[in-house]
Amino acid sequence: MAEISTSIEKAASLLSNGEVVSIPTETVYGLAANALDTNAVAKIFEVKNRPSFDPLIVHVHSFEAASAYADTNSKRLRQLASALCPGPITFILPKKPLIPDLVTSGHETVGIRIPNHPLTLELLKTLPFPLAAPSANPFGFTSPTSAMHVQEQLETKIPMILDGGSSSVGLESTIVEDTPNGIRVLRLGGVSIEQLEDALGEKVAAIKTSSSNPKAPGMLSSHYNPGVQLIAGNPEELAKMHPGKRIAVMAFQSPPKFACETYRILSPTGNTTEAASVFFHTLRELGKADVDLIVAEFAPETGLGKAINDRLKRASV
Ligand code: TXA
Ligand code: MG
Repeated sequence: MAEISTSIEKAASLLSNGEVVSIPTETVYGLAANALDTNAVAKIFEVKNRPSFDPLIVHVHSFEAASAYADTNSKRLRQLASALCPGPITFILPKKPLIPDLVTSGHETVGIRIPNHPLTLELLKTLPFPLAAPSANPFGFTSPTSAMHVQEQLETKIPMILDGGSSSVGLESTIVEDTPNGIRVLRLGGVSIEQLEDALGEKVAAIKTSSSNPKAPGMLSSHYNPGVQLIAGNPEELAKMHPGKRIAVMAFQSPPKFACETYRILSPTGNTTEAASVFFHTLRELGKADVDLIVAEFAPETGLGKAINDRLKRASV
């Protein structure tokens, strides 16, 4: 079993010795290692069973601190950083030589993120190196939003989980890059398109999601497997198409209008931010239910709804 602890000193000591430690963030728990140490980073890929063509995000305590590892001169990205950091956003920036190729899977760019979690920010300030960290789930499975989730999935594979409570945002960071035509979103996440546009005062484009195109890393279509087959759409219609099946329903705002084994509601008030914060936990719970099928209802396409729907589409591949 991994030790679940709130000790920043213990986490810092393990990380300084080249170990992998799970860290809390406001989005999901990460699986962290010294981003400048290739051997430590290699352990992340091993523990996660992650293909080496999928690059890792590098975590730092401030946008200024990122300039040692990446070219942070983009005016638009600076504007976003000052409005939204620390927060659930990752910037794709030209990398500096200090960052090993293993972290970026050979790409000339590196993903940089300043997580908004007090324990992890303090840890990052303590350490003389940045932390490479993907979400702390085995590759292809549901992202963890609590220390217990990490324990369930990785128990014997890591020495320690830094316990920072439940992740408040609950969806991974929004990944953005600057292009000659403006900001482009590579992955929808904890910062909504509306928030980006408000911060910039201009339109923002999002790439098509649910792609299996390796040119857009992180957008692999098969992802977030909850352990039970999942389909998304209108719950009533989907249930009719599967007579005799034992069904669990993940509803957005209201209870299902048909008999099912069990159901959960993401937000009784219809709030997409609230729904996001419980999304992965709920998916995980329903994945443990004794059912044949999870039927999930899409969220409205506003606020964090788009990011929730992206996860649902990918969980249902
Ligand atoms: O909220 C988050 O971003 C969490 C927490 C732990 O910070 N991390 C996370 O990492 O979601 P991960 O590895 O599960 O997803 C990061 C995605 C990957 O799918 C990867 O393909 C993409 O970011 N990515 C990383 N570096 C990139 C780069 N240079 N260019 C394009 N995409 C990149
Ligand atoms: Mg992930």
